[in-house]
Amino acid sequence: MASVVPHVFVPCMVLILGLSWVANGVDFQRDPPCPCSDPALCDPIRTDPKKEIHVFSTNGANWRDYFWDNITTVAVQDGFDPQMMCHAHSKGVRIVVWGSFSVQTLFNESARNAWVERTLNYNVGNFTDGYNIDFEMPLLKSQAHVLTAMVKQIRDAFKKALPYSKVTFDSAYSPNCTFFGRCYDYRSIGEIVDYILIMAYDELDLVGLKAMANAPLNITTQGVDDFIKAGVPPAKLVLANPWYGYNFPCTLLTKNDTCNYKLLTWGQQDYSTIMKLLANNSTTGRKWSEEYQSPYFDYKDSETGQTHQIWYDDPISLTLRFQMAKNKQLYGVSVYQADCLDYSTNQKAVNETNAMWDAFLGE
Ligand SMILES: *[C@@H]1O[C@H](CO)[C@@H](O)[C@H](O)[C@H]1NC(C)=O
Ligand SMILES: *[C@@H]1O[C@H](CO)[C@@H](O)[C@H](O)[C@H]1NC(C)=O
Ligand SMILES: *[C@@H]1O[C@H](CO)[C@@H](O)[C@H](O)[C@H]1NC(C)=O
Ligand SMILES: *[C@@H]1O[C@H](CO)[C@@H](O)[C@H](O)[C@H]1NC(C)=O
Ligand SMILES: *[C@@H]1O[C@H](CO)[C@@H](O)[C@H](O)[C@H]1NC(C)=O
Ligand SMILES: *[C@@H]1O[C@H](CO)[C@@H](O)[C@H](O)[C@H]1NC(C)=O
Ligand SMILES: *[C@@H]1O[C@H](CO)[C@@H](O)[C@H](O)[C@H]1NC(C)=O
Ligand SMILES: *[C@@H]1O[C@H](CO)[C@@H](O)[C@H](O)[C@H]1NC(C)=O
Ligand SMILES: *[C@@H]1O[C@H](CO)[C@@H](O)[C@H](O)[C@H]1NC(C)=O
Repeated sequence: MASVVPHVFVPCMVLILGLSWVANGVDFQRDPPCPCSDPALCDPIRTDPKKEIHVFSTNGANWRDYFWDNITTVAVQDGFDPQMMCHAHSKGVRIVVWGSFSVQTLFNESARNAWVERTLNYNVGNFTDGYNIDFEMPLLKSQAHVLTAMVKQIRDAFKKALPYSKVTFDSAYSPNCTFFGRCYDYRSIGEIVDYILIMAYDELDLVGLKAMANAPLNITTQGVDDFIKAGVPPAKLVLANPWYGYNFPCTLLTKNDTCNYKLLTWGQQDYSTIMKLLANNSTTGRKWSEEYQSPYFDYKDSETGQTHQIWYDDPISLTLRFQMAKNKQLYGVSVYQADCLDYSTNQKAVNETNAMWDAFLGE
């Protein structure tokens, strides 16, 4: 899904890069150079949105085509185009970096401190508006307090250096630690961070060997309820839904369209790729699962002749999930991720991409 954006280096950056000077015996790093044509665009975003509309990005080349007028935060990856920050700030949109530390770092105090310092410097130096913690590693319940303390350390460091910044935390679709072995203390983390992003996808039973939806509505809904029950208030929850699906090669397709597959043969696919397969290759057309409240279809691979089943989400299924988030009065919604859509100018792609953004932005 990722595509690499070439770095844009503004000539003046080269001139002043790396300068520092000593005054009163203290070593000051000179203010980092602002890469924007208008230096005011390096100022942080200071407003607090009533509702968070948060977009994950993998720094795709088409970032200029995101619906910048309607969103509040874009979470980018290391190596993002500095002009994206300038553009976001011109639209009042926060730029945060999503990333993480390793388990090894978590359990090593000096490595932890070094990571926090390095990460903060990076974000100050790149004029971002905060950090999105995407740890995603299994932990025992007895180890949870170490993660909670690290989240607090990051939060404290960021709020001190960048008072308007947001520090947020990505979680699996439910806090139940049986699913991914992530036995975190979500109640405490929820008190520390600005909000928890529930990654309401990858909810499928991938060893059940029966193709199914990426994000069944009943499981997504149960996951949200689980967080509230675990003591995270709805006002601290943002629901992230998928703009990608799962492609299963079927070893057997039953009469009622159940696709059996072999372990580890599935793959994830962008909405844009899925829409091409639906238009050109589908043997069934779009079907709807009442059970999962998600669409799916079958196609035959033209090279191998094998039947595949694709489960995905589209404006209709996503609207049900965004509506549920609204009904439960969550703080906001999110998508993973903006670069899964086709931003080319052919009318079919334009229609499909606009429909996905419209469903996300709602109302
Ligand atoms: C802890 O991290 C530091 C680097 O910050 C490293 O030098 C040291 O070897 C690490 N200790 C262990 C036990 O891994
Ligand atoms: C800003 O981000 C770039 C990568 O995009 C990185 O190489 C650079 O070190 C960062 N700046 C600072 C001050 O860390
Ligand atoms: C969701 O629905 C499926 C299919 O009906 C069922 O097997 C599963 O137990 C349900 N899960 C939850 C959390 O309600
Ligand atoms: C999480 O665990 C609770 C309590 O066992 C259960 O009721 C709930 O259905 C589980 N959540 C999911 C998404 O399966
Ligand atoms: C479809 O058929 C399979 C195998 O014959 C069965 O296990 C499954 O429960 C059926 N599914 C539905 C939705 O009827
Ligand atoms: C269908 O396949 C043809 C040949 O590969 C391609 O040129 C065309 O763009 C495809 N159409 C869609 C809607 O993906
Ligand atoms: C889909 O259909 C197009 C055009 O008919 C063909 O070129 C392409 O190979 C097919 N893709 C797959 C994965 O079978
Ligand atoms: C795109 O949407 C417009 C307006 O809804 C419609 O008239 C047109 O047929 C659509 N074009 C394609 C290629 O889907
Ligand atoms: C996005 O914002 C623009 C400018 O405020 C507005 O005209 C448009 O209707 C909004 N689009 C959606 C889908 O909310």
